Amino acid sequence: MGTFSIVVLPGDGVGPEVIAEALRALRAVEARYGHSFQMEEALIGQEAIAREGAGISDATVARCRASDAILFGAVGGAGVGRPDDPQQPEYGLYRLRKELELFANVRPVKTIPALAQGTTIKRETLRGVDMIVVRELTGGLYYGRPSEIRESKSGASAIDTLTYTEAEIERVLRFGFELARGRRKRLTSVDKANVLASSRLWRRVVDRLAPEYPDIEVEQIFVDACAMALIRRPNSFDVIVTENMFGDILTDEASMLAGSLGMLPSASLGTKRTKHGQFGLYEPIHGTATHHAGKNTANPLATILSAALLLRYSLGLKREANAVERAVQRAVTAGYRTKDIAGKGKVNTTSEVGEAVTNFILG
Ligand code: IPM
Ligand code: MG
Repeated sequence: MGTFSIVVLPGDGVGPEVIAEALRALRAVEARYGHSFQMEEALIGQEAIAREGAGISDATVARCRASDAILFGAVGGAGVGRPDDPQQPEYGLYRLRKELELFANVRPVKTIPALAQGTTIKRETLRGVDMIVVRELTGGLYYGRPSEIRESKSGASAIDTLTYTEAEIERVLRFGFELARGRRKRLTSVDKANVLASSRLWRRVVDRLAPEYPDIEVEQIFVDACAMALIRRPNSFDVIVTENMFGDILTDEASMLAGSLGMLPSASLGTKRTKHGQFGLYEPIHGTATHHAGKNTANPLATILSAALLLRYSLGLKREANAVERAVQRAVTAGYRTKDIAGKGKVNTTSEVGEAVTNFILG
């Protein structure tokens, strides 16, 4: 029996609803396996702006830093603004990723056989889909400066900056190579080296590192070709590594291989370790989905699966992580589905799906 500290950040939109189901699953894991998780909630997003004056407070960042892991829901509002503005709801997420140096965002994409039928993609194309996309998370267009709109008499212009250092590229690629070693030993590096200097540097680093991993088969493809190949031959991918913005876009696409955006979890990791494993932040890849907020209709599985990744990577609880993932599979196979994955079948609420998963963990 161990004690583990987790900071829980529900956030905006459907965040609180999907987090509630992930917490229910974690409580079931405690009960079943005799653990004790210290879970403390804190504010992020719009409520943090209203009550603490910024999208995340310094105190919350400090609490996150001192924890074993962070479980996060979603942030965002109706408007769009600069993510580095403390008055924007995205500010907290933007800050946590960078300040906690969580540069490797792991997004596993696996098709649950029972769901293959209901997706928009042909069933045979989905056979054997099991990949991990590693999205670089603390560089590129998201953090490059300048990034601004410039007003002038002759009309406005806008600039964003795509910058990467060799060291930033190397650490995320090494993360991908190591991950591939424990899997099917294939690494696909995605870039746009026929246009972008940052991608040409990216390719140079791949070419330099590849000889150090002779057991790994390396493929380098352009991002546009990758977008196509994800639908044409999804089961050929094992580990994909790519820069921040490409990874953001490709994983929304890849989520459809798993049936819905509501199915993909993520783990954001760096080099920091805790007593039990790697320090990390865990979140569904979807956003606030405000049209679902407060209706008990959002799919909680991406967040529950994120909690499973938390158990595996940050708490070192492999057996428990597997049990949560198995419970999700069993719940879906037994027909517990929110609208996004229900096809023509019965539609369950967020809490019904969460409860079903919890029962499978306990049972
Ligand atoms: C994601 C989201 C975020 C991102 C948004 C909410 C800023 O789309 O985690 O994929 O672009 O990183
Ligand atoms: Mg995204």
